[in-house]
Amino acid sequence: MKSIPTWVLRVDGLTRRFGVGCPRCTDSVGPAHERSQCPWCATVHACTAASFTLARGEVLGIVGESGSGKSTLLQMLNLTSPADAGAIWYREPTDPAAPPIDLLRLDRYAMRQFRNDRLGIVHQRPELGLEMRFSVGGNVAEKLLLARWRNVAAIRERAASLMHQTELPVERIDDAPPTFSGGMLQRVQIARALASRPALLLLDEVTSGLDLSVQARVLDLIRRIQWEQQVTMVLVSHDLGVIKQLARRTIVMKHGHIVEAGLTDQILEDPQHPYTQLLVSSAL
Ligand SMILES: Nc1ncnc2c1ncn2[C@@H]1O[C@H](COP(=O)(O)OP(=O)(O)OP(=O)(O)O)[C@@H](O)[C@H]1O
Ligand SMILES: [Mg+2]
Ligand SMILES: [Zn+2]
Repeated sequence: MKSIPTWVLRVDGLTRRFGVGCPRCTDSVGPAHERSQCPWCATVHACTAASFTLARGEVLGIVGESGSGKSTLLQMLNLTSPADAGAIWYREPTDPAAPPIDLLRLDRYAMRQFRNDRLGIVHQRPELGLEMRFSVGGNVAEKLLLARWRNVAAIRERAASLMHQTELPVERIDDAPPTFSGGMLQRVQIARALASRPALLLLDEVTSGLDLSVQARVLDLIRRIQWEQQVTMVLVSHDLGVIKQLARRTIVMKHGHIVEAGLTDQILEDPQHPYTQLLVSSAL
């Protein structure tokens, strides 16, 4: 029987600015003006009217130059940065008949609960995603406690199993993050993010700053997770090579706007927007 393709996440007009804005903002910022900061009021329009949908198990890539709003968009999806406008419609993948909910309309308690139960994030900088004074096991356990796990033995067992799954040395479960390498810390973040079996995994520059062999192993791990667990993912990277390897569809951001969206292969073969053309040609 052919399954009906349905979306899990539908982002609609998601907008975030830093500053109060002014009447001249609209005509002064965006890709056409080559800036995201209004010269009149200094407001940064970090993300403007972002819209896209995600199917279950799909990996969406987000590329764009530094400051184009990728992390801002991801933080909104993680419900940790408030949106100024827009909606994030979510449909429970295990229950397609249930009506979609707008995550941004949840009250603070429900939002936090949703984040703890259904979302996992790997931050661009490990120190944002990990508590450096806790042990590695403690960092994973914290996520489980937030998801209301209570049995200490079960928590420790799950933490050890996640370390095993992410190819971390389980015998170092009680060591603190500062004693781990960069590639290992990204794995610890992945282990933590996966702890409560999230429906949506958000990855922000998960391989940047890692040397090539370590990068290849982290990418393998992500591919395996996607394959084995059918986790829906949003993968932010400024590296087109990473996007090409993992993401079926991609959106390209510039100065807070999505300037191009489509199948990754098509975008790489036949980029439409001048910025994407530049990005693709400079990556060759
Ligand atoms: N808390 C904040 N306060 C003010 N401005 C912010 C804040 N967070 C982000 N910005 C601004 O929003 C814009 C988008 O930043 P963002 O971090 O989303 O970019 P990015 O695409 O992730 O860049 P990079 O590739 O360097 O990580 C930038 O101009 C940034 O300076
Ligand atoms: Mg960023
Ligand atoms: Zn302005």
